[in-house]
Amino acid sequence: MSSTLPLQGKKILLGVCGGIAAYKSAELTRRLIDQGAQVRVVMTASAKQFITPLTMQAVSGYIVYDDLLDPQAEAGMGHIELAKWADLILIAPATANAIARLRAGMADELLTTLCLASPSPIAIAPAMNQQMYLALATQENLNVLNQRGMMIWGPAQGQQACGDVGPGRLLEVPDLVQLSCDFFAPKEMPLLGVNVVITAGPTQEAIDPVRYISNHSSGKMGFSLAEAALAMGANVTVIAGPVHLNLSTNIKRINIKSAIDMHQASLTSLSEADIFIACAAVADYRTEQVYVEKIKKQSDSDSMTLTLVKNPDIIADVASAHNRPFCVGFAAETNDLETYALDKLKRKNLDLIAANDVSVSEQGFNSEKNALTVFSKESRFDIALNDKKEVAIQLLKIISTEFKK
Ligand code: PMT
Repeated sequence: MSSTLPLQGKKILLGVCGGIAAYKSAELTRRLIDQGAQVRVVMTASAKQFITPLTMQAVSGYIVYDDLLDPQAEAGMGHIELAKWADLILIAPATANAIARLRAGMADELLTTLCLASPSPIAIAPAMNQQMYLALATQENLNVLNQRGMMIWGPAQGQQACGDVGPGRLLEVPDLVQLSCDFFAPKEMPLLGVNVVITAGPTQEAIDPVRYISNHSSGKMGFSLAEAALAMGANVTVIAGPVHLNLSTNIKRINIKSAIDMHQASLTSLSEADIFIACAAVADYRTEQVYVEKIKKQSDSDSMTLTLVKNPDIIADVASAHNRPFCVGFAAETNDLETYALDKLKRKNLDLIAANDVSVSEQGFNSEKNALTVFSKESRFDIALNDKKEVAIQLLKIISTEFKK
């Protein structure tokens, strides 16, 4: 009985950049082919200082592409055709220079041009000196590329060719092969075709043209939920307060400022919501009056009084709507987590509530991590402290199971 290899029939375009780790590209090509992949190699000019095109041609079985304006290569498979050919573009090693050029969208040499011209997923395996990797510019470039949907594989930690120790080593070849196999493995799509609406970030309640009431929500938790729901097959809409984060382009984004705006956008989105997740930190109150002009400091008084009025409770209104979606709330608490969360679950008529202990410094508002205790009317689930991306995946698995009950 013949079994299918994990990369059988997959077309991988391997981009090799000029770093000492380029010598591993030959072995990587071989091991990808062992798993069934067809590999074509693109080399930058500096990569050829570290490993020859002849070597890469010998191991891949195809000519190596290294010139944007090569009439002979264009007569074979032109660069646009090559960009469309790939099921995956893997850049390994990816140097700091290549990463910066990708971020800038440069199209003056073959590899970055192919990335610009390709609709295919792109994985970047950074390899460089640890100081270069940790430099703000590189970190910012990688973050931007990641937010644009590129996968960042590695780097590994350890001894470097230059003698430094730290992060920046190219992942080992078996790890890169495994990540490629994982990428092509059939994905769990528990939310395929399900319409998910998520509120995220803070709201801003204007006092006058230059001042507002708000909170420390960064939007990271809500945006992580949106990306995870998309990866699980959902059609995702995010109603986002003012945050400085990007979302995948195939997520519908509605930007709002105030709780009243979010309330309106939420009720409008109801006709297209099967699941509604209220992750936003909505201001409970707004000022009764928004001043048209900037409020001047009073010289005759040391205090001033603003009258606040209650904002509408968005998730409670969504949950009481006719044909309500499956409703998931959050409860951000500094004490008596379970009691308050269960009270909100009942009072707001929710299906699930994710209780968030925001008294712990490394989780909750504006942190990279979170931990949640999720309650339904009958059950309790604990999600341990982890990166918000992972917490989002775990929470959505619980939501999809409960939604389908
Ligand atoms: O954005 P991050 O920096 O990543 O932080 C994430 C988070 C801490 C903001 C998030 O995990 C979280 O806990 N969100 C809910 C914050 C909150 O306002 O909780 P609450 O207990 O005040 O509200 C309870 C629920 O009612 C929430 O689902 C909230 O969205 C909703 N609500 C509250 C008030 C209101 N007027 N309308 C609402 O819909």
